Amino acid sequence: MPLTLQEAIDRRRTTNGPFDPRPVSLEHQHRLIEAAGRAPSHFNSQPWRFVLIDDPKIRERVADIGGRTMTQLMEGGTFFSRYRKYFRFSAEEMDQRRDGILIDQMPAPLRPFIRQVFSEGAMKVMSKLGVAKLLGDDNRSLIAGSPLLLAVLLTKEEYKPGELSGFYCQLSMGMAVEHIWLTCGDLGMGIQFVSTPMEIPGAWDELKALLNVPDDLELMAVYRLGYLPEEKRRPRIDWKSDQRKRLSQLAFRNTCATPEQDPAEKP
Ligand SMILES: Cc1cc2nc3c(=O)[nH]c(=O)nc-3n(C[C@H](O)[C@H](O)[C@H](O)COP(=O)(O)O)c2cc1C
Repeated sequence: MPLTLQEAIDRRRTTNGPFDPRPVSLEHQHRLIEAAGRAPSHFNSQPWRFVLIDDPKIRERVADIGGRTMTQLMEGGTFFSRYRKYFRFSAEEMDQRRDGILIDQMPAPLRPFIRQVFSEGAMKVMSKLGVAKLLGDDNRSLIAGSPLLLAVLLTKEEYKPGELSGFYCQLSMGMAVEHIWLTCGDLGMGIQFVSTPMEIPGAWDELKALLNVPDDLELMAVYRLGYLPEEKRRPRIDWKSDQRKRLSQLAFRNTCATPEQDPAEKP
């Protein structure tokens, strides 16, 4: 049974675990791209392009780059200095802000030290112990084991960073990607960003070369996709990010001076 629109929106999630190894059918691959193509764009310019990557040799090479850049990002403590502010360490903290990432699953011996573990200094110590390498290896296997990778590009004819068209392109691309994301839910698939190559200078250029990206296209994002496995096991260190802000935290009425009122709690 296809999901209703409300179900598709409510169930949309990022998949941070492994996918089922079976290939994504060509029909489903095309459904994803067609769904993206239905997104709105300025003057119907459709500035997006996609590369569907199912060749295991290319996936392995993307995985090598993804794994290596994850290790580099963790090793230098960069990840935690850049992103520490998004991590929450208790349900109360999460409930107050209702945004960010709640680390709610860790091996028991580490739990009392959860805040310290996520500090820059501790990460440097853990790097020495090989944790950064382990996380990189995990990322490598997750990407290599994903039956489908998807690169999203914009045409440079439209995409001009710093100009209004640059903003329009990014807005349009975001909507196209959301269509893909929602369609994944409908097809029993999951999706996750492969973002670490963007964080390490030079790695993005390696990906562009690997994918033969021509001069008139800009490589914007890479995702890994696949069917969701029957049995979903949570990784040893895992998080939740399904909390969302209340209406009063994200909407105003008429002007920004008046927060929208939250509806009364149901008894
Ligand atoms: C621009 C952008 C960048 C993101 N980067 C990553 C990423 O690098 N790795 C990842 O696993 N998820 C990434 N995400 C997914 C978010 O972490 C996720 O959407 C958020 O935590 C809410 O969780 P949910 O998608 O499961 O609802 C990104 C999402 C967006 C929109």
